[in-house]
Amino acid sequence: MRIIISGSGGFIGSALVHSLAQMGHQAVRLVRAASSGGEEVGWAPYEQKIDPSLLEGADAIVHLSGESIAGRWTAAKKARIRTSRMQLTGFLSKTVARLNKPPEALICASAIGYYGSRGEEILTEESRPGTDFLAQVTEAWELATTPASEKGIRVVNLRTGVVLGSNGGSLAKMLQPFKFGLGGILGDGQQYMSWISLTDVVAAIQHAIEKKTVTGPVNLVAPNPVTNLEFTKALGRVLRRPTIVPLPGFMIKMLFGEMGQALLLGSTRVTPAKLLETGYEFKHTELEDALRAELAR
Ligand SMILES: NC(=O)c1ccc[n+]([C@@H]2O[C@H](COP(=O)([O-])OP(=O)(O)OC[C@H]3O[C@@H](n4cnc5c(N)ncnc54)[C@H](OP(=O)(O)O)[C@@H]3O)[C@@H](O)[C@H]2O)c1
Repeated sequence: MRIIISGSGGFIGSALVHSLAQMGHQAVRLVRAASSGGEEVGWAPYEQKIDPSLLEGADAIVHLSGESIAGRWTAAKKARIRTSRMQLTGFLSKTVARLNKPPEALICASAIGYYGSRGEEILTEESRPGTDFLAQVTEAWELATTPASEKGIRVVNLRTGVVLGSNGGSLAKMLQPFKFGLGGILGDGQQYMSWISLTDVVAAIQHAIEKKTVTGPVNLVAPNPVTNLEFTKALGRVLRRPTIVPLPGFMIKMLFGEMGQALLLGSTRVTPAKLLETGYEFKHTELEDALRAELAR
């Protein structure tokens, strides 16, 4: 298959490109920097520039681009988070909708931030959206794919949880303090965290590309979300380090502001209803197994 991938240099994109190439697919990177040809095509999405002929006849497009949500959410950062998702997704979706030979599927990143902080409520793809900043951005991000779905292209919105891999994402940021024995619960530790291994993210995206019954919002999370306390204990066991230094909620709010409140203290308990219904078999269903596999411990 010929599969075009944006955000291909990122944490998920680079693992996906590697895996698709290993499986014998033609993985073409859609990059913002000038293209050097080969397995790369260029675009300048903020200037709405792309040569549509380069996208003609692809089997699927996987759109992963977006400003990182890590870091303090200043007004400028929030604007970049919002614009990079709505503007790029809208532009790509409209471009794809106008192709003579459109892809069978447009697989677009989304996030469990769609649901906002919901305590212990079990969330499926049918659950209503939240109301905070990330929830509003994510809802608009998914809506930006409408031009493609209206043209009959199969659109999948990957509502992705906390992706666990050793080379990026949240886990890489946590490793240092934990290794120094400075790991501990965040706030009261009762908030739910819906995690997924990077291995499963890559395999589930391939499942979404290949399986035509996968469509619309799809929760990209493992079947067993855990509380922050359970996560902290599991990571401590895997790294064989103590986890006795808690970070109280007020400190998190002081240090990280709105981002800390949403990402570190928010509680989102998501279940992968659609992945399971469409026959996806998880490689890692238990957190400790996933951590050991991803960290090679
Ligand atoms: N990792 C997670 O735990 C997680 C969880 C939920 C959702 N997601 C979503 O999944 C997608 C991929 O995640 P990731 O962790 O692989 O992200 P990442 O490592 O931050 O990579 C994202 C890619 O997006 C492009 N990009 C970065 N800043 C941009 C900007 N301001 N405007 C336009 N493009 C920009 C870059 O690719 P180019 O330079 O090639 O354009 C970058 O490699 C993101 O949309 C993310 O929000 C990730």
